[in-house]
Amino acid sequence: MRKIQLPSGASFPALGQGTWKMGESEKDRRAEVSALRLGLDLGMTLIDTAEMYADGGAEEVVGEAIAGRRGEVFLVSKVLPSNASRDGTVKAAERSLERLKTDRLDLYLLHWRGSYPLAETLAGFDDLMRAGKIASFGVSNFDVADLEEWSALAGGAACQTNQVLYNLKQRGTEFDLLPWQAKRRMPLMAYSPLEIGLLSKSAGLQRVARRHGATPAQVALAFVLRDPHVFTVAKASKPEHLRQNRAAADIRLGPDDLNDLNQASPPPHKKTPLAMA
Ligand SMILES: NC(=O)c1ccc[n+]([C@@H]2O[C@H](COP(=O)([O-])OP(=O)(O)OC[C@H]3O[C@@H](n4cnc5c(N)ncnc54)[C@H](OP(=O)(O)O)[C@@H]3O)[C@@H](O)[C@H]2O)c1
Repeated sequence: MRKIQLPSGASFPALGQGTWKMGESEKDRRAEVSALRLGLDLGMTLIDTAEMYADGGAEEVVGEAIAGRRGEVFLVSKVLPSNASRDGTVKAAERSLERLKTDRLDLYLLHWRGSYPLAETLAGFDDLMRAGKIASFGVSNFDVADLEEWSALAGGAACQTNQVLYNLKQRGTEFDLLPWQAKRRMPLMAYSPLEIGLLSKSAGLQRVARRHGATPAQVALAFVLRDPHVFTVAKASKPEHLRQNRAAADIRLGPDDLNDLNQASPPPHKKTPLAMA
């Protein structure tokens, strides 16, 4: 699978696993843990979680799934904006580490911008890095103006990524955010790559799927992964979905495919405000 390299030099496969909606129900827990483990077996070793998901429940599921396999995983979690003061960020990360049953996060993100000054959160990230509790930091749901503000802070340029909504239906980031990040060699971490809804019925997408003997969802993943500056996390709890997603990372889209997809969902021609899930 194609690998992505962060500015820190850390490198891992460009398709990973999401965990939103995991940990919500005890009865699904065993299936969710095995799904994440199957994903690791298939090489999707990037795992994205957050303290917000099921109020820490998703982090507990991840903790169980990576037990004994921590060394294989590039582990990402996120601090809620309401906890993102300097001290609150440190405490939130410590709680996440406990639930994840590990002593270090590979990447820690601010989930979205809230009311604490960005410099406060950055100071919290610095404290955590100095203490060896996180290896690197980044942001999420930041548009260009927010990224410019963050990068201008002392130490802010060490931001590793910006995790944003990007999929075949939501292409607004292609206009300015993606080029902004690519120019600075800060890869974009796409979330909800499969949220394409009714678009999956469009003739263009169906044609591409037929051409590759793939499903529309696989084409949607291949579309996001076609850009060398993008990596992504897809959430899957069904084993067949995990296998299909891993296979989608090997689909290479050609010019005919991109023409069909551009017709089904045209690229942006002007700035649009960043959409959020
Ligand atoms: N930073 C943020 O604000 C933010 C916001 C949203 C998401 N995220 C992160 O990004 C991750 C991914 O986004 P997401 O969970 O919103 O959506 P997603 O990964 O685009 O889609 C997940 C849905 O697609 C289904 N699915 C998975 N593989 C499939 C396949 N091959 N064919 C058909 N359906 C398939 C899953 O079903 P099953 O589970 O039944 O297999 C699930 O219902 C999240 O889990 C989270 O880690 C971050």
